[in-house]
Amino acid sequence: MASLKPAWRERFERALEERQLAGNLRQLRPASTRVDFCSNDYLGLARTDLLVEQAPARAGATGSRLITGNYPAIELLEGQLATYHGAESGLIFGSGYTANIGLLTCVARRGDTLLYDQLCHASLRDGLQLSPARTLGFRHNDLDELEAKLRRSGGQRFVVVESIYSMDGDAAPLVDLTSLCTRYDAALIVDEAHAVGVFGARGEGLVSALGLEAAVWARIVTFGKALGGHGAIVLGPRYLRDFLINFCRPFIYTTAPPPLSIQHLGLAYRELERGTQLAALRGVLAHWEEQIVKRFPHFGVLLGSSAIRVWPVPGNERAKALAASIRQAGFEVKAILHPTVARGSERIRICLHAFNTFAEMEALLQLLNRESEKNNYEFTRT
Ligand SMILES: Cc1ncc(COP(=O)(O)O)c(C=O)c1O
Repeated sequence: MASLKPAWRERFERALEERQLAGNLRQLRPASTRVDFCSNDYLGLARTDLLVEQAPARAGATGSRLITGNYPAIELLEGQLATYHGAESGLIFGSGYTANIGLLTCVARRGDTLLYDQLCHASLRDGLQLSPARTLGFRHNDLDELEAKLRRSGGQRFVVVESIYSMDGDAAPLVDLTSLCTRYDAALIVDEAHAVGVFGARGEGLVSALGLEAAVWARIVTFGKALGGHGAIVLGPRYLRDFLINFCRPFIYTTAPPPLSIQHLGLAYRELERGTQLAALRGVLAHWEEQIVKRFPHFGVLLGSSAIRVWPVPGNERAKALAASIRQAGFEVKAILHPTVARGSERIRICLHAFNTFAEMEALLQLLNRESEKNNYEFTRT
């Protein structure tokens, strides 16, 4: 293996040392065996081997969709998912990250404007950065600021939001957003990564739950969360699908998702439609909410309707210490630290799942109760 000269190596090592000193060095760890209050497997579909009785599918697609990698099952699934989510069409990508980058880099041209909620996920932010269009952020869920910026922006306008935000688990004001976008003739793009499998009568997402399918121009549904798989679909008008096939580089220049993954997704959607896991998740969410109201009546920030809940602990060190003590008690939770969130809004993120038992929730709530008695810090949404 070629080794870099010491002077070259130094800058990589220095960057890592700086992270280490700041207490936020990222490291890969073995999978946890603790009770899962951390993953995005909201319905438990990733822990169910849906493929067990299926004829084996190929693990490779052999090429890009435009060369040798297209196959009937993937097109069939795209059609089925578009119908499931009430969209005209859909195009599958290898991941939510590439779907977001691909969509945002190619739909807007120079002279257009992409307006985005400042709490949007890194994949959307990266897509915005690569776009030739002008990008304008607005404060989280602040529609007055969005409107002011819509008023003074030019070209075709696109507004980019998440229906459920991945760090806070709160919702975008989608009804008002759609009216605002209609008024300003702006195209609304909604990332539904954390809403699909949780909201809607059949887990279709928040857009469908609110009956806004026709008012939202494009949606991104990721398969790595509640669907327990991998990949994503961009839902929208048929011309958008055709446009992406022609102009979206992260769709064109990559190997197609494998038949194995598509087979899993067909089965995962069948489970979603059946509704057993969704009903179990709703029971867990209702129980958690009831307990929060009872035990922490003043802490509005702890309430919510999604599967993502936060326990604010200002400061990286405090957040890490609390996460470590929760882990020691056998529960896997994630400390969300600066720079992922703004300084002072560090938190413990608790993800709830269909498979979490009431006894597990009770034990975790007792730990949090003890913590809130020990430290009476302010609970405010930031
Ligand atoms: C809101 C949001 N969008 C997109 C993604 C990326 O999806 P994927 O994991 O499929 O790349 C994530 C994943 O963390 C996310 O939270």
